Amino acid sequence: MTNHVSLASPLVHPCGASLPNRLAKAAMTEGLATADGVPTEELARLYHIWSEGGAGLLISGNIQVDRDHLERPGNVVIDTEPNSDVAAKLADWAKSARHGGNHFWAQISQGGRQTQARVNRHPKAPSAVRLGLQGGQFGTPVAMSIEEIADIRQRFATAARAVQAAGFTGVQIHAAHGYLLSSFLSPRANQRDDEYGGSLENRARFLLDTVTAVRQNVGPEFPVGVKLNSADFQRGGFAFKDSLQVAA
Ligand SMILES: Cc1cc2nc3c(=O)[nH]c(=O)nc-3n(C[C@H](O)[C@H](O)[C@H](O)COP(=O)(O)O)c2cc1C
Repeated sequence: MTNHVSLASPLVHPCGASLPNRLAKAAMTEGLATADGVPTEELARLYHIWSEGGAGLLISGNIQVDRDHLERPGNVVIDTEPNSDVAAKLADWAKSARHGGNHFWAQISQGGRQTQARVNRHPKAPSAVRLGLQGGQFGTPVAMSIEEIADIRQRFATAARAVQAAGFTGVQIHAAHGYLLSSFLSPRANQRDDEYGGSLENRARFLLDTVTAVRQNVGPEFPVGVKLNSADFQRGGFAFKDSLQVAA
């Protein structure tokens, strides 16, 4: 006889956090922040409505850890320790998003080369390899230095700590869909010959070090997730087999 698990049953994570059920709203970029990347009342109202929908977990749209590398205008940005005004807006957002008793996790991200040229004509990326999508709306990337990689890793950790302090109940590190961390995983986008490129171990280093830095900043009991996909419909990119190893 098959052992069925009800979607309505709680899901307990290894860190101890318990989701009230197994339904989640995936990250969907909102574009509802101010021009400075501060959450607005509209954003809080949207999540208040979603919180009444009954999902055990709401994941925010991508919050950027580097204001020069937005995914789009209107992203929420946390790229330094927030001042008290910004911290209060983050807390308002978290409170609205949790009022139904669900979890609310922040998706944290850096856009990398998948940033519109009108936002940034020369985005930072693993290597100077332009995004091969049609339309020419993406800029020509500049390869990141080792110091810049360390800086971004630390910003992920800072953003995670800031959302934890604001009342979010977890974070999801965005390492999918072509943004910075995912582009490091792909041998098409990452043509580095230092410790961040080449072998799978090297290509995964930025992501795994980021997970470690985030975990150090939030402690052992706070959910830290990673959104990871595999080939992203491309041959010669990050392979499915490799994605299983990175997940492990
Ligand atoms: C409007 C919209 C915005 C999205 N924004 C994000 C985002 O900010 N971060 C992310 O990781 N994925 C984003 N996604 C992808 C979704 O999280 C999800 O992975 C994708 O839609 C596939 O799931 P589905 O088949 O249930 O739609 C977005 C999708 C949509 C439709």
